[in-house]
Amino acid sequence: MKGIILAGGSGTRLHPITRAVSKQLLPIYDKPMIYYPLSTLMLAGLREILLITTPHDQAAFQRLLGDGSHLGLELSWIIQENPNGLAEALILGEEFLAGGKCALILGDNLFYGPGLGTHLAQNTAVAGALIFAYQVSDPRAYGVVEFDDAGRVLSIEEKPAEPKSSFAVPGIYFYDERASAFARALTPSARGELEITALNNAYLERGELRVEVLSRATTWLDTGTHESLYEAGGLIRTLQHRTGMRIGDVEQIARDQGWL
Ligand code: G1P
Repeated sequence: MKGIILAGGSGTRLHPITRAVSKQLLPIYDKPMIYYPLSTLMLAGLREILLITTPHDQAAFQRLLGDGSHLGLELSWIIQENPNGLAEALILGEEFLAGGKCALILGDNLFYGPGLGTHLAQNTAVAGALIFAYQVSDPRAYGVVEFDDAGRVLSIEEKPAEPKSSFAVPGIYFYDERASAFARALTPSARGELEITALNNAYLERGELRVEVLSRATTWLDTGTHESLYEAGGLIRTLQHRTGMRIGDVEQIARDQGWL
């Protein structure tokens, strides 16, 4: 399995900060945001990783991460010319994936929890698609999963005005070899984007989507607004101070994995 980090987008909700700097390079306490999703893929054991950025931000990301060899990684780079939607990552990444499976993670999603890496590493042989669900107080800004009483998935809706549950879909997705082909077959949504929810629905319609509820021991934050950015920085600071352990420290993870 290979990894893809989507770090494109214009970050309009964070203007004016993101007029000059990519959202995924902004600090979350003591590290750039991109370190956190990168560390999640590393904890899952993935070493071949594609970074998708906007044309003007690519050089800055490359100054930060280079070819990844200092982290025991093999980084590849590709540009997303326009914010055409998350599912476009699978099309842009088709050559990189070379017919293999992939984990896609969004560059502004931060995961933290005991055993999360091990848990993700156990799912790298996915058949169909595996996505996650996480209970949040206000799911309206996310993909929302509806379950029946037996826990089966009935629907996934993107940013519904009236959510059918409080389970949001976090920005990490595991796909089998067909993700690029399914992404190519999608049509843009009303907002003109190839939605990741539409790709997940393509798997759901075939009965090949698994949704796993993330335990409350896991923390999932997205960092796309001033409030959530500030909160995420505060949380990382608190956890690090309290425990003396570091979160999202890619150098340390590379050493722990024995990659250096
Ligand atoms: C995207 C997806 C949404 C998902 C969210 C997770 O939304 O479209 O389904 O729940 O990421 O962060 P965005 O926040 O990019 O609009």
